[in-house]
Amino acid sequence: MGKQLDNLQFSGYDTVELAKEYGTPLYVLSRDIIHQRCKEIREKFIDKYENTMAIYASKAFLSLAMCKIIEDEGLSLDVVSGGELYIAHKSSFPMERVVFHGNNKSDEEIEMAIKYEVGRIVADNSEDIERIIEFSEKYQKKVKILLRITPGVNGNTHKYILTGQKDSKFGISLKEEEINLIVEQIQKSKFVTLMGFHFHLGSNLHQKDIYVSSINYALDYYKFLKINKGFEAQELNVGGGFGIKYLESDEFKPIEFFIDAIMETIIAGCEERKIRLPKILIEPGRWIVGEAGITLYEIGTIKNIEGVRTYASINGGMTDNPRPALYDAKYQGIIANKLNQKTEMVATIAGKCCESGDILIWDLAVPKLEKGDILAVLSTGAYNYSMSSNYNKIPRPAVLLVGEEGKRIIVERESFEDLIKNDKY
Ligand code: LLP
Repeated sequence: MGKQLDNLQFSGYDTVELAKEYGTPLYVLSRDIIHQRCKEIREKFIDKYENTMAIYASKAFLSLAMCKIIEDEGLSLDVVSGGELYIAHKSSFPMERVVFHGNNKSDEEIEMAIKYEVGRIVADNSEDIERIIEFSEKYQKKVKILLRITPGVNGNTHKYILTGQKDSKFGISLKEEEINLIVEQIQKSKFVTLMGFHFHLGSNLHQKDIYVSSINYALDYYKFLKINKGFEAQELNVGGGFGIKYLESDEFKPIEFFIDAIMETIIAGCEERKIRLPKILIEPGRWIVGEAGITLYEIGTIKNIEGVRTYASINGGMTDNPRPALYDAKYQGIIANKLNQKTEMVATIAGKCCESGDILIWDLAVPKLEKGDILAVLSTGAYNYSMSSNYNKIPRPAVLLVGEEGKRIIVERESFEDLIKNDKY
């Protein structure tokens, strides 16, 4: 038995040492875990099933370095705004591997996507299609599109991150006459090709039944179009949403939990309907990067309200992780410098914002807490940095990439100066 370490280790590094060296709050992202996740996707999806494509949903976490990582891992990139597209382009990410989304694309964003020659644009509605056709003609550029549909399913996740239901701001729920018109509209275009359809059902899903029913819903369209229009869709994008482990009590779902159900349904569904097997696209974000990240904080004020509760405040909060306040999301916290000390108290971890709702973790069992202890919050790699803000003029933390290859800052800590860089008197 080796020496029991007192400090939490993450991806080969002592988190307490990292906190000392780089300061807190600090996002720490493991290159090795990201690699492991991408490798699983390659082995269990891309290599296992023919004619497949995995697209990382960059809204989960995006930076120039992340674009390079995704490029090196051989995945494609989903972007949803001019800003995300700009970062991908700046990083020299291969544009033919970019999929451009958005429920309210501006003309400027559509033009940008067409000029950059992105691999696919996902049209959210027929108005999108009209503008894509118009700009493709203006720039004389070929454009491949997918059309986003809402299959009308309700996943078991927070209602703010549900997207596959009929009552959704995304995509369209098509009636047969409408779909005929849309396909005709696209078929008339010299530059635009309809590759197929797209759906995304929601995020942090731990169930496969709604993927199965949505695939069957989509394949019914495919069959209808083949019979009525002689149009055979070449692709089907089933979105992302694969859930991850946040708490000790959450069950980890390997990628094949989702993938095998998806692929088996598609293969059987195409055979049954006598339609050709389309290329299958998936768009995981959280599953790739969520568990690859942790956040380190320092404990400050500890306030005990006799008989009520003990609040331990940290030097970050809803500005670097808005998910508990927004979705009532639950996180696991560990006192990184007291890994082997026994639990002695229960503390509620409060952020430093002027909001009573800025509570990161309610009732966390911890060893005896002291000012200066380091708190590690786990599974913060997805939708933390990307949703962070400067509320209360709190600068964003740095992002440190760690792993076998060493460690390096990939996003600098914001300074007070950064907070006024756009201000004018
Ligand atoms: N594809 C599309 C079209 C999407 O809208 C999304 C996420 C994804 C893929 C990736 O989903 P993922 O695999 O990461 O679940 N801010 C929320 C999550 C919003 C997700 C929005 N769309 C959160 O913190 O839970």
